[in-house]
Amino acid sequence: VFGKLTLFRRGIALSAVSYLGYEAFNLISHSAVVHASIKVEETIEQADYLYGSGETKKLYQLLIQHKTSEDAEILWRLARASRDLAQLSSTTAEEKKQLVYEALEYAKKALEKNESSFAVHKWYAICISDVGDYEGIKTKIANAYVIKEHFQKAIELNPKDATSIHLMGIWCYSFAEMPWYQSKIAAVLFATPPSSTYEEALRYFHKAEEADPNFYSKNLLLLGKTYMKLNNKKMALLWLTKAKDYPAHTEEDKQVQKEAVELLNSI
Ligand SMILES: *[C@@H]1O[C@H](CO)[C@@H](O)[C@H](O)[C@H]1NC(C)=O
Repeated sequence: VFGKLTLFRRGIALSAVSYLGYEAFNLISHSAVVHASIKVEETIEQADYLYGSGETKKLYQLLIQHKTSEDAEILWRLARASRDLAQLSSTTAEEKKQLVYEALEYAKKALEKNESSFAVHKWYAICISDVGDYEGIKTKIANAYVIKEHFQKAIELNPKDATSIHLMGIWCYSFAEMPWYQSKIAAVLFATPPSSTYEEALRYFHKAEEADPNFYSKNLLLLGKTYMKLNNKKMALLWLTKAKDYPAHTEEDKQVQKEAVELLNSI
């Protein structure tokens, strides 16, 4: 009897679809899609609000519910939230490692879903950079090329995004100051080891400043530090003073101020 009943039920379900016909079926699936995209927009709106108010844990809790999302806009925000949570001082070392690898997975998936979003490229590059702390020198160097490629793609897709430009400057700065033994290792492992100069770093920091003046205390600090490396005292003083006078809103701003003061005293 039970077997017959299920068979009967399935029969009804099937005939309902065929009765409604293709057009009605289409309409139903279409409205389901519309509903889903409204939900995505709402989630993004909530997420951006939480991000703006620095509610890292709440943001992660919201977005982790959407970890199986196919939407690149949700996925890169989840990657960003995961790595922000990883950086909190209340996060244990073990949790941190798990979170940065998790973040990379979300960013990777976001990139698979949409390759024309600058934010996806930017956060993918940032997440790869984060896992570098747990990888060996060989992987780190191999990743350096990938990181650069994605920052460049982000800038190409959105030349006004000062953060991507700044991060490209940081990339150049780190490879300009790479200790000699690291570049030796890199030269052994790779035909063309990643390299850069302080002049190139400087160009990016200035470009970032042009795109969005005073957007980030650290960009001012790095301008000062790069000029110091280039032995240009006058310009170093100018930018370090700007970094020192930058109104500190975040923990990072305060650290920047402190470093700027120390450097100014050392000049
Ligand atoms: C990918 O991202 C770009 C830029 O944000 C957007 O214009 C485009 O509609 C997205 N494509 C898809 C398939 O979501």
